[in-house]
Amino acid sequence: MQGKMIKAAKVSDFENRCVRSVRILGRHVAIIKNPDGSFRAMEGGCKHQNADLTTGKVSNGIVTCSWHGWQYDIESGACVQGGSASLRPYACRVEGDDILISLQPVDPDASSSSFVPFE
Ligand code: FES
Repeated sequence: MQGKMIKAAKVSDFENRCVRSVRILGRHVAIIKNPDGSFRAMEGGCKHQNADLTTGKVSNGIVTCSWHGWQYDIESGACVQGGSASLRPYACRVEGDDILISLQPVDPDASSSSFVPFE
């Protein structure tokens, strides 16, 4: 269940960048565009000291925090280097030029079908 989808950004916002920080209903959300054109959304604040993860580096499905190097899987939000706390992933999908996000928690046991890739 994705819950209500909220317009968070535009696909055209990512023409020259692969990551963007947005604030939705008071929550800091990172939106990441994968090389295949699909999008992922997750909490935007690092679990270590709350640095903005969108200032970090994204490579091979991993975002690396620019402050102290903790690393997170952008698919699951799991911390894979540095700590043990995971980031909350959010379901997202594309409709036309709009990127829509649900702030409902993504069921970690659900298949990756919670995410709808951009084609
Ligand atoms: S604030 Fe992100 S690793 Fe320290």
